[in-house]
Formats: sequence, C-alpha cells, structure tokens
Amino acid sequence: MEILGIDIGGSGVKAAIVDTDKGDLLTDKIRFQTPESGSPKKIFSGIESHFINELKWKGKVGCGFPGVIIKNKVYSAANISKKWIGINIKKKFFKKFNLKCNAINDADAAGIAEIYLNENIPKKGTVMVITVGTGLGTSIFVDGKIVPNIEFGHLKMYGDCAEKYASNLARKKLNLTWKEWAARFSEYINYIELLVSPNVIVFGGGISKYFNEYESNLVSNCKIVPAKNRNNSGIIGAALSAV
Ligand code: BGC
Repeated sequence: MEILGIDIGGSGVKAAIVDTDKGDLLTDKIRFQTPESGSPKKIFSGIESHFINELKWKGKVGCGFPGVIIKNKVYSAANISKKWIGINIKKKFFKKFNLKCNAINDADAAGIAEIYLNENIPKKGTVMVITVGTGLGTSIFVDGKIVPNIEFGHLKMYGDCAEKYASNLARKKLNLTWKEWAARFSEYINYIELLVSPNVIVFGGGISKYFNEYESNLVSNCKIVPAKNRNNSGIIGAALSAV
C-alpha cells in the first residue's frame, strides 16, 4: 500500500510516500522548516502546499507528532506551539483536505518502523527506541508490542528536562563536541537503564546519521544499535500506523 508519511518536528516537517509492504520511501523526502510559531495553522498550510499539492496526494496519510497522542488527539506539545493541544489531527486532515489520516507520537512512529524493519532488533524482550533531535523521543516495545506515549525525554536531570541536557538541540546550543555530548547522553542512557532495563536501545532521530562519530563514546550496559532508517524511521512508521 502507498501511504503519505509525515513527520512533524520542532525544526522541520518532513514527508515522503511510503511503500508500507516493504517499508521503503517511494519518493525523495520533502521538507519544510517548522515555522517559528510552530502553530497548527502554519504547519497545516505548509503540509498543504509542500506535500499534498506538490504530490497531488489523494490517499491515506500517517502523521507523527512530537507530543502525546491518544486516539489522534494531541495532549502535549513541548517543542512546538501549545495551540496544538486539544486538536484531533485525524479530524483536521479530513475536514481540511478530505484525507484519511492516523496520527501517533513521533518516537512511537520511529519505533514501529524499526521493530518492523530492523533485523538487528530482537523480537522478544524490552526494546527502547530513543530519537535524538530537538527533543528526546522515547518508545518502548515489550515482545514487539508497543507501550505508547512513553515520555522519558521529560525525566528530570539536573533540575530540568533530560532533553534540555542531552538532545541534539542542547548539543548545538552549547556547541558541545561529539565526545562531550556523548558523555551527557550516556548519563541519560544509564538513568533509563535503571528504570526499564532494556535489552537493546535503538538510536534514531536527526543525529543518528552521524552515529559513527560518537558510537565509541556511548557508555551503556546494553547493546545500542542505530536506527536502520536513521531519521526516515519517523516518516515510515507514521505511514505504517495508517495502514
Ligand atoms: C515530546 C515527545 C516527543 C519528543 C521528540 C518531546 O519533547 O514530549 O512527545 O516524542 O519530544 O520529538
């Protein structure tokens, strides 16, 4: 099946048409920068012009969003406008574009793609997926089954959210070297390991494409594998969720 996968993020909104049987992108990834306000109005208008009109899309849509999503409705928005809270993304797509859509949390989407496609992930046990971008997205799978809306990016570290300490945005803001950032991220992983004892951690998000740069500096008790689809996992998983 062909589904338009959309990944709404704090820095960019990305999309591609996905072959959900193979988990492949059928088009190049299209991206527009998240407008400064991050408002639903501006993002929906970007989605309309950059994705729906550009691709002349009439089929199903799967949408990943950086916040808690229950039954397509937004319950939190940390790195994007609070105006999103309360919006039912599925209803909005139908009303605005007459398109069928399913919306889930962005890290849950990335995790679904990895569980489905990454042959290095065991089918049994606890798998933790961490996406590192503007925020820290987390998803947990137990024997292949998701526990949705895990928000471990908001665990407290040094008096603030963990994502303020160890995200890619934190790395950029503080101009950290890979080694310095990896030391912070390792602290975060150790904290997570105390809480959920994962068998494997899957590392995804914007900086997973540079995995080789810092892999040797990540200290963990469990195996860390890079996301097979790197930062495209969010798009692919969003599409898979809409099958
Ligand atoms: C949000 C999560 C999201 C993560 C990555 C966090 O700030 O609370 O829901 O998965 O950022 O985008």
